[in-house]
Amino acid sequence: MEDQSYEEYMARRTFQEIDGLQHRHLRMKVARAFSGPVIIEFEHSIRHLCAKILDDTLILDSFDAIEKIARELPMRMLGHILGLPEEDLPWLVEKGDALIANTDPDFTDHVLDKLDTKEFRMMPHNSPAGADLYDYAEILMKRNSKSGNTKGILNMITEPNEDGSVISETEFKNFFCQLVAAGNDTTRYSIAAGIHALCHQPELLSQMQKDPKIWDTAPDEIIRWASPVNYFRRTATEDYDIRNKTIKAGDKVLYWFASSNRDNLAFNNPFRLNLYRKPNKHQAFGQGGPHVCLGIWLARLEVKCLFQELSQRVDKITQVGDHEFLRSNFINGIKKLPIRVNLK
Ligand code: HEM
Repeated sequence: MEDQSYEEYMARRTFQEIDGLQHRHLRMKVARAFSGPVIIEFEHSIRHLCAKILDDTLILDSFDAIEKIARELPMRMLGHILGLPEEDLPWLVEKGDALIANTDPDFTDHVLDKLDTKEFRMMPHNSPAGADLYDYAEILMKRNSKSGNTKGILNMITEPNEDGSVISETEFKNFFCQLVAAGNDTTRYSIAAGIHALCHQPELLSQMQKDPKIWDTAPDEIIRWASPVNYFRRTATEDYDIRNKTIKAGDKVLYWFASSNRDNLAFNNPFRLNLYRKPNKHQAFGQGGPHVCLGIWLARLEVKCLFQELSQRVDKITQVGDHEFLRSNFINGIKKLPIRVNLK
């Protein structure tokens, strides 16, 4: 984990690294667009996309489930919601990967802990991909203001605030990079972990096929099971006592979502994926509060549609080679999963 200088923080910060009213104002610009009632309107498009991805893939004898299924859906959907051109999406997936998987040589040439990446220290995630996404966002912003188009999420971001002030160009670029980074790989790795589980707990597939009620609880349990974000860091604003330890104001504290999601005081049999788990107060989307994940409704719906469509088409999924994890202490994800499926 690296600390940023004040200068770097100011250049790179997104609303995730801002607190209080300023955070609220920025988040509110898009909060409605990502709310449950708005996202549910996308169910048909998500389902259609899932069906297309699966129908194109399941004709293959064996394949990498990440490349062919899990990696495909999230960015295509986010691109659709943001109104981005279809032909740009593969490039955006590549850049989103390089940004977040900046410690894995399979995703970037600028591996954070292996090379001197100081040249990019003012860019998102200290990454050259951040520079590319900045350029892309700048073009988008100009294209949008020229076209006079006032619809869509990107326009919501640039709309003037009540006091007439508008978001700066840097803020817009960071906002855009934040959405690309957050919306790309977390849902992918939830789908990946879910498919991996289906290979090793075969009863899950038949439960999905037999019981429609399961969809009230299954998506959250798959996301708990996956826990794609290992941790986030907070800085304590005041002294706080917890279990005979004192966290002092100014201390930097890691909040391990991955650990809380396997806490046997909170979950019965936490190392088992139980699609009926209820209640399921997992922390894969954060611990709640003002910074809780903005994409909760979208992620849940994508996971639900994907596994509904998958379970309608296959009877058995077999892992046919070793799976590989991303090289990262931040994101927990299976990046390669060779499988074979028996169609229904
Ligand atoms: C299963 C998929 C996902 C998981 C596990 C996940 C997880 C998280 C986590 C752990 C946080 C930090 C919460 C905190 O600091 O307390 C977060 C924040 C965020 N997520 Fe997600 N996320 C997912 C999908 C998405 C999607 C699809 C989007 C869509 C754009 C998204 C957008 C965001 C944004 C913008 C934030 C920052 C919110 C803020 O600081 O106010 N996420 N997410």
